[in-house]
Amino acid sequence: MISFASPAREHEASRELLETAVLRVLRSGGYVLGAEVETFESHLAQFTGAAFAVGLSSGTDALVCALLALGIGHGDEVLVPAFGFVAAPEAVLRTGARPVFVDVEPRTLGPDPDELRACLGPRTRAVIVMHLFGQAVDLAPLQTVTRALPILEDAAQAIGTRLHGRHVGTLGKVGTLSFFPAKALGAAGDAGALLTDDAELAQRVRRARVHGSPRAYVWDEPGGNYRIDALQAALLDAKLGVFPARIERRRQIGLRLARAAASRGACVIDGIPACHATFAPFALRVKERDTVLQRLRAAGVDARVQYPWTLPASRAFAPFAGSHPFPVADRASRELLSLPCHAELTDDEVDAIERALLDGLADG
Ligand SMILES: Cc1ncc(COP(=O)(O)O)c(C=O)c1O
Repeated sequence: MISFASPAREHEASRELLETAVLRVLRSGGYVLGAEVETFESHLAQFTGAAFAVGLSSGTDALVCALLALGIGHGDEVLVPAFGFVAAPEAVLRTGARPVFVDVEPRTLGPDPDELRACLGPRTRAVIVMHLFGQAVDLAPLQTVTRALPILEDAAQAIGTRLHGRHVGTLGKVGTLSFFPAKALGAAGDAGALLTDDAELAQRVRRARVHGSPRAYVWDEPGGNYRIDALQAALLDAKLGVFPARIERRRQIGLRLARAAASRGACVIDGIPACHATFAPFALRVKERDTVLQRLRAAGVDARVQYPWTLPASRAFAPFAGSHPFPVADRASRELLSLPCHAELTDDEVDAIERALLDGLADG
């Protein structure tokens, strides 16, 4: 099976670089936060163009920290897209606030501006936007609706993606990234980060990640253990050095698959024209999705359904679904299909995925 992600191959390709970083940390005796983390944070800020980058324990925890730093808690509501990964509504619940689901627009799967307007209420304190599949959601039409409300960008699937030349996660008030091993920039375990241009917010997140402590044994506000390990930071920093070439290869593979899909009339989730997409992973819409999925898997391609149901349709979040319909999100859950698209694919594997896609879509 041609795999969805290949962290072991990535390690093999940069073995010396990565093993040197790991040994350096092991021998240093400093394993949590510290100089390795500060170096990585400063390089990540440079790469994304954010004024501040804060290393955290995971992409999910980064969302929690962002909400805590925005002062969100009991009695508040946060608007969350009805389609996407579960971490966003989970993070809202962990702060004690309530997720309110908003239907998405079909092109980028970002919140639909009219739906957003209809969902705003007196308790709304923030809006979460997810940049899915390495694409970018345009915040401009949303900002005309949200005005002063902060927009939190969940950019866990979109490191390297730019819109009008700006890195996603730096377009709103605050952005979050995930370095889960299968992500475009993956750690050897769990890790995440938060991006912001707001110095005070960055400072609050730095406190939140160490139990709300400005210094040892002073607990000024509720926080938690949301720290990133020095080992993960050192590995990520080493990988960040070779990341631009890897993300470009991923992008070229994605563009090639997009051309193949378009030649069969399939609708690729290819965002908006100003988006420099990174296809993490490559996603398309197909009416006969389950037939095409079976064909791809039979041809040895690890194709997947992301996601088979909307967030309000999941059992965990059904109590927050309300009576509002989510027709565009529902359709996405019936039609979307994801294919392997990463820098570790060999040329032969890319050829095989393209062939399988063309065959799979032949009359699908
Ligand atoms: C859109 C999105 N948000 C958040 C996360 C959570 O990241 P993590 O697994 O690092 O907690 C993921 C991970 O898959 C994701 O895809």
